[in-house]
Amino acid sequence: MLPTYGRVLAAVCALATTATAVVPVEVKGRDFVNSETGDRFQVMGVDYQPGGTSGFSKSKDPLSDPKSCLRDAALMQRLGINTIRIYNLSPEADHDECASIFNAAGIYMILDVNSPLQGGSLDRTDPEGTYNAEYFEQVFGIVEAFKDFPNLLGFFAGNEVINEQSVKKVPAYIRAVQRDIKDYIKEQVDRNIPVGYSAADVRPILVDTVNYMMCEDKDEPSASSDFFGLNSYSWCGDANFKKAGYDVLTEDFSKSSIPVFFSEYGCNAVKPRKFSEVQAIYGDEMSQSFSGGLVYEYTQEDNEYGLVKIKDNGDATLLVDFDNLMEQYAKLDMKKVQTAKESQTGAKAPTCGEGLIKNGTFLSTFDLPKRPSKVQDMIDNGLKDAKTGKLVDVSSAPVEQTIFDHTGKEVKGVSLKALAEGETNAPGKHADGKADGKSDEKDEESAAGALSAPVWGLATGAALATLLL
Ligand SMILES: *[C@@H]1O[C@H](CO)[C@@H](O)[C@H](O)[C@H]1NC(C)=O
Repeated sequence: MLPTYGRVLAAVCALATTATAVVPVEVKGRDFVNSETGDRFQVMGVDYQPGGTSGFSKSKDPLSDPKSCLRDAALMQRLGINTIRIYNLSPEADHDECASIFNAAGIYMILDVNSPLQGGSLDRTDPEGTYNAEYFEQVFGIVEAFKDFPNLLGFFAGNEVINEQSVKKVPAYIRAVQRDIKDYIKEQVDRNIPVGYSAADVRPILVDTVNYMMCEDKDEPSASSDFFGLNSYSWCGDANFKKAGYDVLTEDFSKSSIPVFFSEYGCNAVKPRKFSEVQAIYGDEMSQSFSGGLVYEYTQEDNEYGLVKIKDNGDATLLVDFDNLMEQYAKLDMKKVQTAKESQTGAKAPTCGEGLIKNGTFLSTFDLPKRPSKVQDMIDNGLKDAKTGKLVDVSSAPVEQTIFDHTGKEVKGVSLKALAEGETNAPGKHADGKADGKSDEKDEESAAGALSAPVWGLATGAALATLLL
C-alpha cells in the first residue's frame, strides 16, 4: 500500500502552494512552546549571515535575495534545523519572499534589530549619544518588516553590547531598548513577540548580566528580557560536559525564569568540527536549563566557522562540518526534545535590586533613560512610512544552483518542500539525501517535489484521507 500512497501524496504535494504557516512560538515560563500544541520548542539552528557584515547594505541583507534563500532553506531542511538567527537587517530591503520561504520550510527566525550602518545600533562607549530617534527608525523598521510573519520567533535588542569596553551604564540602555520594543509591539502588533538579549560568555559577569536583563521592576514593567541568548565557544573538539564548563552553565542558569539558549556555539579550534556538544545541549541534564542553541555559522567566511561554502555563482558545497552536524541532530530523540515539563514553567523572575548585581563591572541601579518624545510618538502612532512585511505564497521547488558534497561530487535532488499547515522542520524529516552527500535514485525523484511517504504519511495522513473520500 505504501508505494501507491506515496505517489498520490507526491502529486498532492507538488500542487500545494502555501500561504500556510508555522504556528507561532511563545514563551511559557522558562520554555519556548508551540502556541497551539503546547509542545516544548527547543532552538535547533544556525546563525545566518552570508557575506558577513561586509555583504550588507541598505538594499541588501541576508533576507533580500529569494534565490539564495530558497537554496539555503532547502539545505537547512536537509540539515534538520528549525531556526535561523540573522544579525544585520535593513528596514529598506524587501524581505517578504525570503521570510515566506523560511516559513514554508518550517524554519523560525530570531532577528537582531540592529544594523552595522551609522546610527544603526547603541554605541557601548556612548549609549546616551546613540539612544535616539534615528536609531529607533532602524529598530521599529525591523519590527514592522517582520511583525506579521508567524515564523518570527523573537527579536534580539542587542548582541554582546556589554563587554570589556562597555561603559558602566550600558545595561540600563539595553533594558530601555527592550522596553521600547516591547511597548511598540504592545501598541502596534496583535501578537506578543518575545524580545531578548544575546550575551558574550564573560563568566565573571554572566550571572549578573542575566539577572540584570530578566529581573522585574514595577516602575518599568516592559523592560525585562523575555529570553536570553549566550554566545559560548567553550566546547572544543572532544570536550565533555565538565571540561567545557557546561556543568557550571547548567547550574548558573538553573534558576532562570526565562528561556535561555546558545545564540552562538561551535568552537573551531579543532577541525573538522564533530559537534559532539549537540548531545549534551539537548540531553537530559542541560535541557533543564537550556532551550537548545544556534551553531555559528551557516556560511563559510574568512574565520572558518562555516557549514556551507557559497561560490560567487551561487553554487554551494556542503562541508564536512555540515554532515557532522546533521549526523548529530539525527541521533536526537525528538520526542524528548519537544516534551514540555510542568516544572519548567513556574519559575518566578527576581525583583530588580542592588543585591542582584555582585561584580561591579556595571551599575546595579535600574533607572532607565527617558524615552525621547519622537520615539514615544512612533510607539503611539506606528513608524511613519514603514515597509510592513507580508507573507506570500511559496511552492515546493527544486534548487536551481548546483550543490556539491565535500568530495566535490554533485548532490542531486535538493529541493525546497513547502510544509503542511503547522509543520516545523526537524532532523531527518525532510532530508532528501544521506549525511555523506550520497543521493540514491529515490532522492533524485524528489527534484520534482516528490516526498518520501513515511514522513508525509504521518503529517498529511488526515488531509489525504479526506481527499480520497
Ligand atoms: C568582575 O568581572 C571582571 C570581568 O569582566 C573580572 O575581571 C573581575 O575579576 C570581576 N570582579 C569580581 C569582584 O568578581
